[in-house]
Amino acid sequence: MIMNVGIDKMSFYSSDMYLDMVDLAHARNEDPNKYLIGIGQKKMAVIPKTQDVVTMAANACLKIIDDDDRNKIDLIIFGTETGIDNSKSAAIYLQNMLGLSRRGRAFEIKQACYGATAGLQMAKEYVENNPEKKALVIGADIARYGIDTPGEVTQGGGAVAMVISANPSIAEFEGTSTFYSDDVMDFWRPLYRTEAVVDGHYSNDVYVDFFKKTWDEYKQITGKNLEDFSAMTFHLPYVKMGIKALRAIIDEASEEHQDKLKTEFGFGKVYNENIGNLYTGSLYLNFLSLINNSDQLKVGDRIGLFSYGSGAQGEFFAMNLCKGFKNSELISQINADINNRKQVSVSEYETIFNDWVPIKDQELSFDTSKDASTFTLKGVKNHQRIYDRK
Ligand code: CAA
Repeated sequence: MIMNVGIDKMSFYSSDMYLDMVDLAHARNEDPNKYLIGIGQKKMAVIPKTQDVVTMAANACLKIIDDDDRNKIDLIIFGTETGIDNSKSAAIYLQNMLGLSRRGRAFEIKQACYGATAGLQMAKEYVENNPEKKALVIGADIARYGIDTPGEVTQGGGAVAMVISANPSIAEFEGTSTFYSDDVMDFWRPLYRTEAVVDGHYSNDVYVDFFKKTWDEYKQITGKNLEDFSAMTFHLPYVKMGIKALRAIIDEASEEHQDKLKTEFGFGKVYNENIGNLYTGSLYLNFLSLINNSDQLKVGDRIGLFSYGSGAQGEFFAMNLCKGFKNSELISQINADINNRKQVSVSEYETIFNDWVPIKDQELSFDTSKDASTFTLKGVKNHQRIYDRK
């Protein structure tokens, strides 16, 4: 078994529209600082009906997949809790849209926001045993709580794509994972609903509890402590959630190291505070934001990753940065995508939110002319989603 397996490439896609959290606060009669500071969010991605988890994943993959990947990827794992079909997996659509080898395994995984981590760990073991192969892992979701609900400010959406290989460019797995699960009703979405049901404050408490449990066990098993980590990354349903988790353990480090961890957290939150929650992809967006924006990290640095999926499953693991962790071309592309988005008003956002694809319609046709993305959803025919490539 070889040890140097990890993330070779990473990419991110979200829609080209956002809602400003100050506008939302005014519309909901809240103090803007509740959203900006109390929740920690600045902007929220607004996903049009011409995008779903399949198109978002395909648009993210386009930025990174090359012919070598097309030949070597024979495992595609799609983590999502916004699936588009109760039977057929999003991974099969993606395989075809990207022209990936058909000699592969393609399937979807669901456990709330944890799905991409389950996929990542499975891909790790697959590539460790088959180092000439690669795996593609996706975390893609659209977070929906509903207009004028407490969860509304923590919506968002997008897709993160990761290619897992031997001798990776970005980061390699190190040592063991620790995990914990329990039957908890903090957040769920019955089959008949397009919006989540959530016990928000309880979900915050369970999240922190699972983080402490997995972190404590990790320290016990590995003998490592907080000083051994250059940065900690988290599933960020909203930025303040990560601050709460970091606060729960930060006293374990020296004052100097506490400052470092806080500074790195500041780099890691940049993408998330501008996009919002993308459920399965949120931890990996936090990780991507950290490596793209930090000017202090160096090759070999150890990063902690805490994954949480309501219901609930937690997992903590570590990755070490590799020599190609900064890809300047991709950084410029992602930053430009985030910065060049179009601002929508609260009423435009509400119209888009309420125009979500009705699940029961079998014939629909969408105007994709305003969506500049390469892959779009152009409608539904005979209960089948019809995708388009520009
Ligand atoms: N200035 C600064 N801060 C302010 C403020 C102001 N004017 N007004 C309020 N605040 C602070 C509050 O003190 C509070 O801070 P703390 O959390 O540190 O106590 C914070 O703003 C939020 O205020 P409330 O608790 O009153 O907010 P709320 O009751 O409206 O709801 C929420 C907050 C529970 C997070 C809600 O948005 C929600 O339910 N979100 C969805 C659930 C969620 O994301 N849970 C996370 C764990 S589950 C998970 O991670 C899986 C997943 O992806 C969903």
